[in-house]
Amino acid sequence: MKKLLTLLIMVSLITVMVAGCGKTPERVEPETTETETSETPEAPATAEAGFAADSVIGVALPWLGTQNWAEADEMFKSKLEAAGFEAIVQHADNKVPTQQQQIESMVQNGAKVIVVGPVDGSQLGGVLEEAAAAGIFIIGYDRLIENTTAIDGVVQFDSIKTGVLQGEALLAGLAAQKGEGPYNIELFGGGPADPNAPNFFKGAMTVLQPKIDDGTLVVVSGQLDFTQAATLDWDNAKAQARMDSLLSGFYSDKEIHGVLCPNDGIARAVITSSGQAGQETPITSGLDAENETVTWIWEGRQYSTIAKPTDTLVSKTIEIIKALQAGNGMPAPDETTDNGMKEVGIYALPPLVVTKENIKEAFANDPGRMELLK
Ligand code: BGC
Repeated sequence: MKKLLTLLIMVSLITVMVAGCGKTPERVEPETTETETSETPEAPATAEAGFAADSVIGVALPWLGTQNWAEADEMFKSKLEAAGFEAIVQHADNKVPTQQQQIESMVQNGAKVIVVGPVDGSQLGGVLEEAAAAGIFIIGYDRLIENTTAIDGVVQFDSIKTGVLQGEALLAGLAAQKGEGPYNIELFGGGPADPNAPNFFKGAMTVLQPKIDDGTLVVVSGQLDFTQAATLDWDNAKAQARMDSLLSGFYSDKEIHGVLCPNDGIARAVITSSGQAGQETPITSGLDAENETVTWIWEGRQYSTIAKPTDTLVSKTIEIIKALQAGNGMPAPDETTDNGMKEVGIYALPPLVVTKENIKEAFANDPGRMELLK
């Protein structure tokens, strides 16, 4: 009995001790302290801390094959240096591995922000995630970066709207210069790796498809899909070769009245091909307001282009970099778009259609292009 009593007392004592032990962690005072610490203003999150005014800023451009990228290359160098930053500006000659290596070396060189115009919108996830993990801000430039969370925003001219304007310009030009219709047309798209290219095409087709459906427009080749219309790597020579074979295959006894062209280089390739095939110059859309095209529009050889001034695009990007440097974080975007992994903030600039009619007005503040209009 005595033994039983002793045992009972011991069991109760152990129970009290165990219960007591169990309580201790429940108090979790240190956790409360931790929460308070992270809320104190002396400990700002890294994203809000800003960085030195003479920091390295990396700019990874896809290629210099169209005038807009060559302009961006020069403007980023001069404007970033003028703003006090150390600029590393490189282009990748349209090669994905080259661009990946360039971004990696920008990370190793201590860049605080990396601006990227991707060669291929969906091939940079790995290297950009590395950069983001190192606390670097990543800004898409002119093109969306897809399938990664390692992107803080994109500065670009609205790509669907650009396509809509291209479709509208083609219709307006046909009505103004090619009689009553129906009109024979063909469709060209840009490089399929560039996320802008399917968007330009999609925007244009919102305008053109109803006119194809009601018979106003006839795509004589029947090549209506983006995949059939796309131009690998935005290569003008490939566009010209496709136009040559469309004309010899489908237009030996027909006139071509118009061609949807996603940029100026492709428009000039299409116009050249048409001339060589003995066709009258078709109405075309375009993009970039390249110098050669500005001259062609002024001379009546190309119907339209779209101005998306590089100066505006670069200046907007640098404004964002300055906000980040000052510790103000990314400014509020104009809209967002789904890149396959997240809703990305877009700083959207308005594209402008240019024809011979408004060309002087459009470039009133661009002395270089005004010089071509004499
Ligand atoms: C740009 C165009 C350019 C094309 C080919 C696109 O992403 O928006 O301005 O003509 O790439 O370089």
